[in-house]
Amino acid sequence: MADTKKHLLLVEDETPLREALAERLAEHGFEVQQAESGEKAIEQLAEFAFDIVITDLRLPGLDGTRVVEAALLRYPDIVCIIVTGYGTVKDAVEAIKRGATDFVTKPFQFDELLHALNSALEKRGLKAENAYLRSQLQERYKFEGLIGRSPAMRALFQLLETVSASASTILVTGETGTGKEVVARAIHHNSPRRAQRFVALNCGAIPETLLEAELFGHVRGAFTGAIGTRQGRLEQAHKGTLFMDEVGTMSPGMQMKLLRVLQEREFERIGDTHTTKVDVRVVAATNSDLQKMVAEGTFREDLFYRLNIIPIHLPPLRERKEDIPLLVQHFLKKFAVQDSSRIPNPESRIPEAKPLSMSQQAMRCLMAYPWPGNVRQLENAIERAVALSGGRTQIETSDLTPDIQQASHAAAAPDVNLPEGGIDFDRYIHRIEHDLIRRALEKTRGNKGQASKLLNLKRTTLVEKLKRLEPSTTDVLAHRSVPPKAGNL
Ligand SMILES: Nc1ncnc2c1ncn2[C@@H]1O[C@H](COP(=O)(O)OP(=O)(O)OP(=O)(O)O)[C@@H](O)[C@H]1O
Ligand SMILES: [Mg+2]
Repeated sequence: MADTKKHLLLVEDETPLREALAERLAEHGFEVQQAESGEKAIEQLAEFAFDIVITDLRLPGLDGTRVVEAALLRYPDIVCIIVTGYGTVKDAVEAIKRGATDFVTKPFQFDELLHALNSALEKRGLKAENAYLRSQLQERYKFEGLIGRSPAMRALFQLLETVSASASTILVTGETGTGKEVVARAIHHNSPRRAQRFVALNCGAIPETLLEAELFGHVRGAFTGAIGTRQGRLEQAHKGTLFMDEVGTMSPGMQMKLLRVLQEREFERIGDTHTTKVDVRVVAATNSDLQKMVAEGTFREDLFYRLNIIPIHLPPLRERKEDIPLLVQHFLKKFAVQDSSRIPNPESRIPEAKPLSMSQQAMRCLMAYPWPGNVRQLENAIERAVALSGGRTQIETSDLTPDIQQASHAAAAPDVNLPEGGIDFDRYIHRIEHDLIRRALEKTRGNKGQASKLLNLKRTTLVEKLKRLEPSTTDVLAHRSVPPKAGNL
């Protein structure tokens, strides 16, 4: 059976009083141990995780405040009750400021002590419970700035929790707007490096020569215009995290230089003969397929493996639609707040964000749309909708862009004339499927990746369907301009 008794340490130098109290406390269900001095109490605290300490303030040797200090240091949630004489109330108040729970003044009735004890325990229970509930609400579907409830996102939160602590290099992959940078920041803020800098460098936005200077810094006179010595991003990120975005765009020369940094954690500033050592955690990100680039010979294989120590892949939003309502709620709140703070009319009495909601119909459109620009595109769409919603409290379909508005139409089933003679259901569905895939491929000039986005399908699903559909291609294509007829299908 679980041990539900509360373990109590009673510290009191007057033996008769201590023994009498211990007996009464035991009668009330407490498991009591006694200490006759502060020193003894601290020893006992080191050996056992008590739930409660009741200590006299005046003790020979180490006094009660020291006992409380030692107890709280070891067990921040421990309940400490101080017993104090008439002259030491001020000291007891001081101890409470430092974390003791309550005090009783001598002489006291046993019930008085019991009351203080029970209400302290109750309070502690509530505190723990509230903290638990809050953490549930706050953390269940959130991790730093990341929101998500889909299995993929929840698995990601768990992974981030574990990998943040290490210093291993991480490679974050995913389409544009899936949150790669948010993930990189979340890793930094959850790592032991959080007090140091998070330095971001977008390798794609800078020409090669400048990229090298940005990354490594330079010494005075290293090149024309290098008037003084300048720290590179690597040095700026010392003890912290360096986020290297769009690593797939790096030239072969830069790839080699980065490889050395990752292997040796050392480099030379441009124009410097001296080698600089750094302690940097690298998080790299890319929306290109590095593995494919390795196969094609445009990305160094050894660098790929150096970066890909811990791979984190962010699935596109269309593959985790259950995250959309939560993200919508989050962005509605974000932009409603910004919107109300922009209201120029000083007479407007809008003390806080207006409660904004999404009509069910608009939500259906948002759920049906394939979001090629992922979360960023969704965020922009909500910002626009909030701006267009004016003073309304609900966002309507008309506040969305036309392509998003049409998404739910596209998702609706086409009107089917069901002829008297009936149809061949399987062949009919097969044909619609084939027709849609053919049109998507035509529209994207045969690009299966883009076609799968248009159809809101995983690429692998599209490829599978294509394989299944292929044998009857000629058959169906031959009839494609003929409307489905009974008996013909
Ligand atoms: N899970 C999420 N929860 C909340 N906001 C998110 C989430 N994912 C992305 N965002 C938001 O979407 C926007 C785009 O995210 P981010 O810049 O991290 O994307 P990215 O993957 O780095 O894109 P790109 O490849 O284009 O640089 C940001 O404003 C970010 O706050
Ligand atoms: Mg980015």
